[in-house]
Amino acid sequence: MTHIPDDPSASLHDEPYRPQFHYSAPYGWLNDPNGLVYYDGEYHLFFQYHPHSTVWGPMHWGHAVSTDLIQWETLPIALYPDHLGTIFSGTVVVDPANSSGLVPGGGLVALYTYSTQTQGVAYSTDRGRTWTKYTDNPIIPALRPDFRDPKVFWHDRRWVMVLSAGQSIMFLTSPDLLQWEVVSEFGSGYEGGVWEVPDLFPMTVDGITKWLLVFSVNPTAPAGGGGTRYAVGNFDGRTFVEDTPGKILWLDWGPDNYAGTTYNNIAEGRRLFVAWMSNWAYANKVPTSVWRGAMTIPRALSLAKTSAGYRLAQRPVDALHNLRMPLGTWENITVDGPLALDAICGQTLDIELDVALADATAFGMSLSTGAEDAVRISYDVPRREMTIHRSDAGIPYFNPSFVAPLEPDDGQIRLRILVDSSSIEVFANDGLLSLTSQVFPGGDILHARVFAEHGMACVRSLRAYHLRSIWSERT
Ligand code: FRU
Repeated sequence: MTHIPDDPSASLHDEPYRPQFHYSAPYGWLNDPNGLVYYDGEYHLFFQYHPHSTVWGPMHWGHAVSTDLIQWETLPIALYPDHLGTIFSGTVVVDPANSSGLVPGGGLVALYTYSTQTQGVAYSTDRGRTWTKYTDNPIIPALRPDFRDPKVFWHDRRWVMVLSAGQSIMFLTSPDLLQWEVVSEFGSGYEGGVWEVPDLFPMTVDGITKWLLVFSVNPTAPAGGGGTRYAVGNFDGRTFVEDTPGKILWLDWGPDNYAGTTYNNIAEGRRLFVAWMSNWAYANKVPTSVWRGAMTIPRALSLAKTSAGYRLAQRPVDALHNLRMPLGTWENITVDGPLALDAICGQTLDIELDVALADATAFGMSLSTGAEDAVRISYDVPRREMTIHRSDAGIPYFNPSFVAPLEPDDGQIRLRILVDSSSIEVFANDGLLSLTSQVFPGGDILHARVFAEHGMACVRSLRAYHLRSIWSERT
């Protein structure tokens, strides 16, 4: 068992591999984001939390708030285990009209799963600072062995809940957040692992509104272990119908994007997504101490109409720009082999590049800590595939590389690469492809190199930034 400091603020966030611009708890174990809600000027981030250890155990809801989704303040634990069980994943809604009768004058209501797979309610009337459990918990019994992770939203004059039920998603409705009726169930006959952490929301493109059903599946993800999936369809307030039956897409092709879910109570048209940046295949073993587990960079989602159909695109939230310190700008560089870019080095990086592929068979970027590549991103032009290799990232049980399909856009690819002390997030072609991966490089400082193979590529533009630590201004 790891030594946990008595004073949570004692962590300086300067331990090896500590994320510098992603949220991680000051100490202890963290998994899924929970109860994502914007309320009274604050983005709340609750999370699956074991404060007494760096491995998964009795779950609490940890709590942090932010005004911009980048700079976070950790608050005291919001929900503790009780006689009904420990506190698994769930949702928070704003109940402005006090439909629940629990929050006179309006307030926050949390719906979460107990470890017994029953569903409970808690409420807060002080901006999420303190929480009271509902006296008649649980409000929904365990109808299945794996029956958990409610996400609730207001739609068409009632509350709608999506809930994982083994290898399907159940839909429930309620007038008051307390009495729920099962109205439909969605399953695809998909035999993969257990379905967890569902979410459902509308998105509009070119005047057409589609509903996105997002959920996590563990195992069977393309990069191994678990991953987040989505289906595109329609929802009439009771039933979700897929546009193409059985067509369930992967939201991220890297190994470390799980239990992703979106914010409630955000202005219409905006959808903000956060996931746990790990994988149950090895989450309990990654080489960190004091803390374990971090969130992805919060991402703004959009819907795109592509030749293959409707697809979600992801873009890091704009507030990340506030951390940028320019390292350099390049234009029209011809690359016909390896090319070191000495100015691009550091522990945290934000790199944007547009590349015309010309006649190269592969183009990529590698980040090394000296002789060894810590991580290598490469695009195979004939195969139309993006690969990330993290084989030299120091972790023997990691799957060493993973591959994702990517169509070039008029002979070009555009990349946005975020590098933190133990992660890399790659967004390609305006976020139509994203790959999220933990990496644990041996040395702190990474050096960047671009390369082209068997021909030439042209880097039309490249902008690189160092990102300031979000913890540096803390006292
Ligand atoms: C997903 C999950 C959820 C569950 C929670 C427990 O990662 O397994 O289904 O509620 O984690 O910590």
